[in-house]
Amino acid sequence: MESPIPDYLNRVLEATRPLESGQPAGYIETLAKADTSKLAVALAMVDGTIYSAGDDQVEFSIQSISKAFVYALAIDDAGLDKVLEKIGVEPSGGAYNGIPVSVDRSTSRPMNPMINAGAIAAHALVVGPNATVEERTDRILKALSRLAGRQLHVDETVYEDELKDSGRNMGIAYILKAAGFIECDPQDAVKGYIRQCAINVNVRDLAMMAATLCNGGKQPISGDQIFPQQSVRQVLSVMTTCGMYDAAGTWVANVGIPAKSGVAGGIIGALPGQLGIAAFSPKLDKKGNSVRGVAICEKMSRDMGLHMM
Ligand code: DON
Repeated sequence: MESPIPDYLNRVLEATRPLESGQPAGYIETLAKADTSKLAVALAMVDGTIYSAGDDQVEFSIQSISKAFVYALAIDDAGLDKVLEKIGVEPSGGAYNGIPVSVDRSTSRPMNPMINAGAIAAHALVVGPNATVEERTDRILKALSRLAGRQLHVDETVYEDELKDSGRNMGIAYILKAAGFIECDPQDAVKGYIRQCAINVNVRDLAMMAATLCNGGKQPISGDQIFPQQSVRQVLSVMTTCGMYDAAGTWVANVGIPAKSGVAGGIIGALPGQLGIAAFSPKLDKKGNSVRGVAICEKMSRDMGLHMM
């Protein structure tokens, strides 16, 4: 008997396609020119079964969704205690690109690893303080490819576009360096962070990556234990409270599962022990989250009873 899920996913896309609000990210040239008609959704079970609909082969840069997985790598490479010295776990209540307030260690520790300041600090912990940009990028690319189950690549055009206009992130990194929250060269931290954000994925990749988190860090198809279970618990907890930035409260109320968004228009959701979901549509709301992507996840949560509460 054929699964009803593919037809259901198509119905979800048709129900959300009429939403016209939002704009693609304007500060990264390639993203600003994105085809805003693209719309896709995928659902991956912890047994490795995957379903998808719409533009499910269309690739886009992972952007901030990478932060969830790089947080796990930072924990693996530096240990949770050191990560917590550098990066908090509290929601910032502000925008994803908020700037730490001073070089005073007591006031500029990044609030969490999902905002840019915390993500840059997490990136700087991957491999180690003396690693090169290439070494950190290689470790991250290998890990994300294992999570997706196929070889991923950095989109060099997106990387160059974002590097051209990286003043805000460079400023954040210099404050973090002065306050001792990163130990490597601030420019290397930002270059490597932007390269991790420029890795291209599609919704099927993202759903499988989310399903790996739901599966205690074990990739559902390969069976590889990519992250320790305790790292995954930490990541999912912080995704729940911080993954959607200053829309996290509304997300938990309306969708109710750990999530992470990205400014190319991707979103992942992870229902521990069951399934990962991914949605893609380039138009963003004022908080940097995909308008149709959020609507897709809200509908699926209602229809499929995904809410954890
Ligand atoms: O650093 C930036 O601004 C981008 N590379 C990532 C921001 C992002 O994806 C925010 N999430 N919605």
